[in-house]
Order: sequence, then C-alpha cells, then structure tokens
Amino acid sequence: MKVTVARGPWHALRTDLLAVPVREDAGLEPLTELDRALSGWVRQAAELNGFAGKRDRTLLLFTHGKLPTPRVLLVGTGKAADVPDALRRAAALAAREAQAVRVRRVSLWAPGFPATDTSAEALVEGALLGAYRYTRYKHPEDPPLEAVEVVGPASLSAVRRAQRLAQATCFARDLVNGPPNEVTPPALAQVAREVARKAGLAIRVFGPRQLERMGARAILAVGAGSRQPPQMVVLDYRPARARRTVVLAGKGVTFDAGGLDIKTHEGMETMKADMAGAAAVLAVLQALPDLGVRHRVVGVVGAVENLLGDAAFKPGDIIRTLDGKTVEITNTDAEGRVVLADCLAYAQRYRPDAVVDIATLTGAAVVALGYHAAAVLGNDRALVDALLRAGDQAGERIWELPLYEEFLEAMRSDVADLKNSGGRYGGAQKGAAFLSRFVGGRPWAHLDIAGVAYLDTQEGQAPHLPKGATGFGVRTLLRWLVEA
Ligand code: BES
Ligand code: MN
Ligand code: ZN
Repeated sequence: MKVTVARGPWHALRTDLLAVPVREDAGLEPLTELDRALSGWVRQAAELNGFAGKRDRTLLLFTHGKLPTPRVLLVGTGKAADVPDALRRAAALAAREAQAVRVRRVSLWAPGFPATDTSAEALVEGALLGAYRYTRYKHPEDPPLEAVEVVGPASLSAVRRAQRLAQATCFARDLVNGPPNEVTPPALAQVAREVARKAGLAIRVFGPRQLERMGARAILAVGAGSRQPPQMVVLDYRPARARRTVVLAGKGVTFDAGGLDIKTHEGMETMKADMAGAAAVLAVLQALPDLGVRHRVVGVVGAVENLLGDAAFKPGDIIRTLDGKTVEITNTDAEGRVVLADCLAYAQRYRPDAVVDIATLTGAAVVALGYHAAAVLGNDRALVDALLRAGDQAGERIWELPLYEEFLEAMRSDVADLKNSGGRYGGAQKGAAFLSRFVGGRPWAHLDIAGVAYLDTQEGQAPHLPKGATGFGVRTLLRWLVEA
C-alpha cells in the first residue's frame, strides 16, 4: 500500500474517493467549505438520509464534476471523545467502503478534528488496518486498495511510523490467520529466520536436540504428543549504544488441542490462533530497525503443537524446567505457561531490564474481559503503567488484574515446586502467578490476549478489527519501545 501526504488543498485532490470523518458533536459545521463547493448537496444529502455523524454511519456522494474527485464519503465518528480512536475507526470504515465500491485510491481529510500528527497517524493506521484481508488462500472479489493519502498538515515521519505499525500488525495477522497445517513450529521458526534476514537481526533456533541438551524440558513435554518438533527461537535486535535490554516472550502454540485433557469442539475451533503471542513478538522484532528503537530487544518464541500422540505429556507427569524448577502437570490444557516457563527462564541469560510476555493464556481472561480488552499483570508498577499508557495511545484496550500472593499459593504442588493448573477461579491471575516464578525477580509484565487476539464472532469486531486475527499487542509494544 502506498501512503502519502497530500500536497495541495483538499479541493484540488485528484483521487478516487475523498473520505471525510464527521463528528456528531460538531455536525456538518466543519464541512461548510465542502458543502459550498458541492452547491449545498452535502447538507441536502445528509438531511435526506438522516446522516448526523453517528458512529459508523456513512454517506456516499457523487460530485458531478464540481470537484476533481468523483466521490466524497462522509463517515460518522459519533461524539469522538477520544479523537485518535474515532479517526482510526472512521478511516478503517472508509478503506473498507472504498474497497466495496472498487476504488483504488483514497484520500482522508478530517476538518473539525485537531490538525496534528496524532490525528494523521490514526487515519493512516485505521485505513491500513481496515483494508486488511487475508488473501493467501482465497482472493476477494473486490480489488485491493492501493493508495492512501492524508490531507495535511502531517509530518511524513509520523505517517511513515503509523504505516510501519500497521504493516507490522498485518504481518502478525497473516501469521495467525494461517492454517495450522501450514503454520507449524518449524514453519514459525522459518518465518523467524526470514524476519532476521530482512531486519538484520541475530537469530538462534533451538530444535528438540538442543532443547534437550539445554534442559528446556518443559517445552519438550508440551510438544511430545505431536510429530512436529518444538522450536525455541531467539531473535536479537541490538542497536549501537543500546539503552536498556528488553526481552519479549511469546506463546507460540501453533495448535492447542488441549493435549490428553482434550478440548471440546467449540473450545478447539479457534486454536490455530494460540500462537498469536509469538506472532506479535515476531512482528515487533521485524519493525524495530525501521522505527529506530534504541533499546536492545530480544524476542523469545516457544513454538510447539499441543496434541495427543502416544508420547504426549500426561496429568501427573513431573517435569523439570530450564531453570531447574519442577512442575507437576495437573492439566495438559494449561500448556502455554509451561512453554513460557522455559522461555522466561531463557530470558534471564540477558539480565533484562524488563521482560514482557504476550500469550493467549487463559479462557479466564476471556470470561473476565470478553473480546474487548487484554489483561495485564506484573510485578513492576512502572512497567505495567507504561504498557497501559502505550495501549491507550495505540487504541488497544488493556486492563490490569491483580497478582495477589494467594494466586501463587494456589499454584503450589504437593509433589513438585509448582503445578500447572490451580483450579478454575481467578484463572488469569493464577496463570500469571505461575509465570512470575520464572522471571528471576526482574521487572516483568504479562499480557493475556486470549480474548482479543482472534475474533470469530461479531463480538469485538470493529472497522479496524475485521473478523479473524487482530494482531493485538503489536502496536502497543512498538509504541512502548519507541517511547521508552
Ligand atoms: N489456549 C488456551 C487459552 C484460550 C482460551 C485462548 C480461549 C483463547 C481462547 C490455553 O492453553 C488453555 O487451554 N487454558 C486453560 C487453562 C486451564 C486448563 C487452567 C483454560 O483457560 O481453560
Ligand atoms: Mn490449552
Ligand atoms: Zn493454549
């Protein structure tokens, strides 16, 4: 997708469609100039169609030669209390409508909104996220949008940054939407190699033999029921004179059948998306050089398939993790934390200043927050706050859950240091409490994206969040790393 900043004034734009967000709380007032250029048709058409800027309402106008652009699309934003959110959503809807009317080039102009880089970034992000479609195995009938132009003032650097964030998000979406017969642990490792090559990162891939030698038995245990060999992938972005060292760990369960504690049909249906954390980590690492991030960032991905083969790990098994702790398996479906235990233990080798893991970890996070927010838990106030702030800027909702000591007590085993499942209630907190034992006291935060990584129903969907993979977390993490 080509993204540019318009040079001339809005009325001189040669484009296929000029999209104009309209806020309900300002009405058509900011569109006076446009209305005049179109001999009052804006107001007339709005009245005829009861268009008053309500959120997600649109109105398509033909300009009958009065402007160089043949089409103007008004997009309601509602009251627009949160400006970037409103513009992101409106631009996404505009991009979708543009595709639906088979248009190649869209210009976005937001009179009545603050003329800032933040607004321009939101427009670009929205358009790119809204235009996204997963086309690897099925080509859509409507041709793809090819160019997006924002009508300034906007700095090119801000627009480029927004474009990069959106691209990274779509990269994660493609990985998560990929079918699990294609996106296997070795395939994920191969994607990581390509990421390393393109972004100039150092990479190490540990297969089963190296994991065995290293003592990463937890990830091996989870993968034992599958013919797909588990892989631990470590990507290292190391800029000159790096400020801090950050490790990002991602759950990469390429398919979660639950293991011997097998899931129901409904529970299993979307479990190709159980590697969304890993996809987010790869997407973030891939974008770091372009964004000029000044921290060393190490991505650790645990890629594994949780199936039921005759070597599968079993309830009652006790396994030893990379850092020497023992874990009693009480539920093979609580596999993500077991995989992440080894990843977080590996992270300690870098003596990180901050560790953030991202994982589709618990159904409990979905019960608590629905499809509308990720949960964050951690041991460091400043780190959690920084992630909450970054999420706010990115328009990704994150809600903190408490990590009381009692949750850790629930994870203690009678026969091992820990058990991997501690009963149903407070499940997201218990999962996080388990992970907290593997971070070696370093500042750490955990993002549970189980509810927001993949949208299979209408719920949670929005113009910039189409059905399927969302790429949740990519933009939050990148914003955090750029700002921090
Ligand atoms: N991958 C699932 C969590 C999940 C559920 C992700 C729904 C996305 C949507 C995870 O591995 C899992 O099965 N967790 C169990 C843990 C339990 C057995 C302690 C869960 O949440 O039910
Ligand atoms: Mn599971
Ligand atoms: Zn899982």
